[in-house]
Amino acid sequence: MKKVGIIGLGEYLPKKVLTNADLEKMVDTSDEWITTRTGIKERRLAAENEATSDLAVGAAKEALKDAKLDPGDLDLIIVATITPDMPFPSVACLLQSALSAKNAVCFDISAACAGFVYALSIAQQFIESGTYKNALIVGAETLSSVTDWQDRNTCVLFGDGAAAAVLAEVKSGGILSTCLGGDGTKAELLMIPGGGSRHPVSKETIDKRMHYIKMQGNEVFKLAVNIMAEATKVAIEKAGLEFKDIDMFVPHQANTRIIMAAAKKLGLPPEKIYLNIEKYGNMSSASCATALCEAVKEGKVKRGDVILLATFGAGLVWGASVIRW
Ligand code: ACO
Repeated sequence: MKKVGIIGLGEYLPKKVLTNADLEKMVDTSDEWITTRTGIKERRLAAENEATSDLAVGAAKEALKDAKLDPGDLDLIIVATITPDMPFPSVACLLQSALSAKNAVCFDISAACAGFVYALSIAQQFIESGTYKNALIVGAETLSSVTDWQDRNTCVLFGDGAAAAVLAEVKSGGILSTCLGGDGTKAELLMIPGGGSRHPVSKETIDKRMHYIKMQGNEVFKLAVNIMAEATKVAIEKAGLEFKDIDMFVPHQANTRIIMAAAKKLGLPPEKIYLNIEKYGNMSSASCATALCEAVKEGKVKRGDVILLATFGAGLVWGASVIRW
């Protein structure tokens, strides 16, 4: 079986910063509440002329440079997003055009905050099977476009950003195992109810603010801790490793309290947990991807280290992956 690994990483964060102090002027909240309940201090917002594909292009270019590949070398582009530029065509097609990656098959996947790990697993299998050689996967979101800026329960949590990884066959290390899962019975806990075929855009859907994120945060919180812990246990076991073998835990960045509670269950010490939620908030599919990219860039991950990715999100869906760097 071919070994598949990440050979390049890149990220793109929009320049505009929205701080907790800014949010205090928009809704009834406080820096103290947001910081202690979530760990978030600020988040990035896409500019008015920036859509998800624009963020994806920035991240993809950096990842290709890191991988020392040209766009024409790509056979496959997968974009994980829940905030595409438009219902169709896919962000992956827009990205392919912007990069001039003429030889790439392209499609999007919808797996919310677990999107990056889902994309990683899909691309891995195309490469393992010999179908494709070089794959670009991107987690890209402009959650600000679906955030209800009048709802303090959700608007303090989300941000915009993108990160990308190039995957190819590697001689050693690479992706050791993955555990993906889903539970559609919990779909109502976290959704954008309007704007799709169930409730097409109408005056009523707009008046009821149905095109914004609705979340039962408390319920998601409890499930997230257990899901992250269970999925990572399965992934570690499949890799034939133990938790003591993990050098860096790179989780989805939804809430510092969720991450710390999950890490405690797994016996992972704080120095082995990578956090960047403070700067960016929850960027859905871009969160875990950006955290991985920054952990590597900052030298917190060295060649040979074992990285554990763990994600969960709307669906519900989840995904954990063990990678030897
Ligand atoms: N500022 C001040 N007070 C607030 C705010 C705010 N921004 N938001 C809520 N509150 C209040 C509530 O109204 C409530 O007040 P009450 O007790 O008077 O009713 C109180 O704070 C506590 O609210 P809870 O919802 O119980 O607070 P909790 O500690 O659960 O934190 C949070 C809320 C941060 C949303 C948490 O539940 C969470 O992180 N949930 C998981 C989110 C997540 O991981 N989503 C999945 C990924 S997202 C995706 O897939 C797109």
